[in-house]
Amino acid sequence: MPQSDLHNSAVGGWDVGAIRSNFPILSRKVHGKPLVYLDTAASAQRPSVVIDAVTNFYTGHNANVHRGVHTLSQEATELWENARESMREFIGAASCREIIFTRGMTEGVNLVAQSFVRPRVGQGDKIMITAMEHHSNIVPWQLVCEQTGAELVIIPVNNRGEVELEAFAEMLDEQVKMLAVMHVSNALGSINPVAKMCRMAKEYNIPVLIDGAQATPHLQVDVQAIDCDFYCVSGHKMYGPTGSGVLYGRENLLEAMPPYHGGGEMIRTVTFEKSTWNDLPSKFEAGTPNIAGGIGLGAAAQFIQGIGRENIRTYEADLLNYGTRRLEEIDGLRIIGTAAEKASVMSFIIEGTHPHDIGTIIDHAGVAIRTGHHCAMPILKQFGVVGTARASLGMYNTREEIDVLVAAVEKACVMLR
Ligand code: ALA
Repeated sequence: MPQSDLHNSAVGGWDVGAIRSNFPILSRKVHGKPLVYLDTAASAQRPSVVIDAVTNFYTGHNANVHRGVHTLSQEATELWENARESMREFIGAASCREIIFTRGMTEGVNLVAQSFVRPRVGQGDKIMITAMEHHSNIVPWQLVCEQTGAELVIIPVNNRGEVELEAFAEMLDEQVKMLAVMHVSNALGSINPVAKMCRMAKEYNIPVLIDGAQATPHLQVDVQAIDCDFYCVSGHKMYGPTGSGVLYGRENLLEAMPPYHGGGEMIRTVTFEKSTWNDLPSKFEAGTPNIAGGIGLGAAAQFIQGIGRENIRTYEADLLNYGTRRLEEIDGLRIIGTAAEKASVMSFIIEGTHPHDIGTIIDHAGVAIRTGHHCAMPILKQFGVVGTARASLGMYNTREEIDVLVAAVEKACVMLR
């Protein structure tokens, strides 16, 4: 198919050409070839509505939030709080008091680790995670364990990349004081049964944090239906700005937690003897926040909802099946992560080649993928590899792009073997 015809066809009622027209960067070339962006798991591209929301804030309304009586500050505050409401609706939280703006998923986990878990655990207690976690859902818990004497325990994952639920059930007991689990694996693509895991954990009154970084761009997320206690969102993974995100927390838990960062805005009164804290959510938003980022994130949430998460899921699932099938045609290729339920991610290794070499060579065909350990060293070690090549899908990708990927990888294999 000539390049000019790529992406123009409507697929099953989904007009991917129209979707793509929202993303200005997709019309650029790389090494003289049309960009084929298959690295959404590392960072999604931004639609014009997000770019415009950020630009519009800086060009028309820039001022600090919750700190001024003047018009610009009032406008900035309104945009900021509207974005919070968009995020509340997007993840189905009951109240905006439960939506804390953060720098991203990593900050959300660290906040919960230090403010909620650290004061509640000690020697003999356990913090539980799965074997497939991203480093950002491992290291903050290791820090708490070092600080408190608690033990980090790991739920096993099978060789398809699925959580072993029977082993999980057997590991649950009163000593487990926190369960932290990713919704969708960035390295394998597995979708974890988080609602079921929450139900199982609740039988022992174990609070649950979900790392939603790779879920919100691809799946319908409803924190009340999942019935988790905390849910961490990464802005740039869901077509929003970098350095933006939210932490959802149940209001009663957030109320009982001490502040994480001290500074402006999070206080009610300050004297040299003692300070008192502001109401939720301000208690956890010390200092001038990433205002433009939060506003852009709100725009991203509205954009995704406008397209419809069920539509996105259906389209991407078809693309993932197609991509997996096509990649498996390549001689010596092994998919890492073959869970029955997957989203977005095709991680692979190819006999006789190194992932970095594959990634570098196919970049010259305009194809962007990530190679390496994907910040998930332990699970790659379990699969006996130190790195993979990873193609990850977003709402804008097409079957034609998969074909370009496969042709480029095949060519790279000829060069490398
Ligand atoms: N966590 C990001 C990834 O999976 C950076 O690539």
